[in-house]
Amino acid sequence: MHSSEMDTLHQLERHGLFDLRVPRYTSYPPANHFRAGEGQRHQHDWLSAVRDGEAISLYIHIPFCKRLCWFCACRTQGTRTLRPVETYLRTLLKEITEVRKLLPNVRLSRLHLGGGTPTILSCKLMRLLLDAVFAAFERDDDCEFSVEIDPTEASDPLLKTLVDYGLNRASIGVQDFSPLVQAAIGRQQSVAETRHVIDFLRDQGVPSINVDLLYGLPCQTPESFDATLEHVLALSPDRLAIYGYAHVPWMSKRQVMIDEEALPDTHVRFALAERARLAFEAAGYTAVGIDHFARPTDSLARAQGEGRLRRNFQGYTDDTDETLIGLGASAISQFRGGYVQNAVATSAYHERIATGGLAGHRGYEMTALDRLVARMVEDLMCSFAFRPKALAADFPQQTAEIERTRLQLIEQFGDVLNKIDADYVLPAPAQPLARIVAHALDTFSTQGAAHAVAI
Ligand SMILES: C[S@@+](CC[C@H](N)C(=O)[O-])C[C@H]1O[C@@H](n2cnc3c(N)ncnc32)[C@H](O)[C@@H]1O
Ligand code: SF4
Repeated sequence: MHSSEMDTLHQLERHGLFDLRVPRYTSYPPANHFRAGEGQRHQHDWLSAVRDGEAISLYIHIPFCKRLCWFCACRTQGTRTLRPVETYLRTLLKEITEVRKLLPNVRLSRLHLGGGTPTILSCKLMRLLLDAVFAAFERDDDCEFSVEIDPTEASDPLLKTLVDYGLNRASIGVQDFSPLVQAAIGRQQSVAETRHVIDFLRDQGVPSINVDLLYGLPCQTPESFDATLEHVLALSPDRLAIYGYAHVPWMSKRQVMIDEEALPDTHVRFALAERARLAFEAAGYTAVGIDHFARPTDSLARAQGEGRLRRNFQGYTDDTDETLIGLGASAISQFRGGYVQNAVATSAYHERIATGGLAGHRGYEMTALDRLVARMVEDLMCSFAFRPKALAADFPQQTAEIERTRLQLIEQFGDVLNKIDADYVLPAPAQPLARIVAHALDTFSTQGAAHAVAI
């Protein structure tokens, strides 16, 4: 290692990269600060306050999987049959009707099906769901329709059904191709079946394919990871997301199956992430935010280049909609006024829709200070920058707080921030600190409480 690389590593270490536990900041405040009892009241008011003619995004959560992978921290449950999925779908259709009733005329600019495993639905159930969605919400001409796809649970007819309804972005779960790693995470998935799904979608004209990978999994080594990276690059995705494995067994009980002795330490995690970055950049991908890569012509890379990159519950996006409505158990909605999360357990979700019409159970109403901090956190996560002048222009009532933050950042992170005109920017080698810098601005500040490691 060169001495300049060693210096950088020491700097990252001094700021806690290998020790701290901080949120991923897919929202500010993070979802663990949403308050019980504030859900349904706000949900009703904020849905009613959506503007006539506004473009909105929809997220629909399908919390079912045929096989539960041990690493997975997503809200989902195992099922062998489609019976609970059918029951869930009936409730989902009711929720669509109730939510639609409260909204004015809106245009649908994004639809994302996530999970769990949305592709667990039969063709018939998928058509039922999509007919209901598109009957309730009129699509924009350039509406983006994306689905999370588990290649081990995605039949050709089901994929064809999605294409028939306008699927134009697919997110393929890979995680790791090493058989040893797959055995350690309870997920078997061959390169061949993954390639089949990607080729099928491409042949059907789906223009954008994303692949999800994880670093920090049990038994992952730099050598095994290199082989995975090689396989993934041969699949030639348009985008890649490479997340650090969040080991949070106190939140995701199935992770007790993971052998903690086999987990790489934080220094190895960092080395794995670096290997992926070098491999993707060498293959012509542009780094986007802290954990995404995209072809330079991809809309995400262009959004970053033009300062339009945003961050929401699905990670990085070029979605500019101010209203994102989450449907289904545990789904989170984002409104101008704040956030609402639906009841998490499917039983509680069924009950709320059956009795009250809406499923919100916790929420958070943004204060003026929260809005400023949310913007500062998003700027850091999307462009690694703190921009006091631009902030003052957009938040003229908060100039004292902006100046206080500026001084705090100089004191805490002056050694890693570059000053460019009036802005403070994390240069590439220090960008892994983005979450830690964001955390310094977080007025809720819950280091360690419920989060995974910072790298
Ligand atoms: C909600 S999952 C759905 C994926 C789909 N069911 C599949 O298996 O391909 C979406 C992504 O979340 C990421 N993910 C799940 N558990 C995670 C964890 N513990 N830490 C970090 N990322 C995780 C994985 O990369 C996964 O592809
Ligand atoms: S990774 Fe996908 S298939 Fe595996 S448990 Fe999570 S949501 Fe289900």
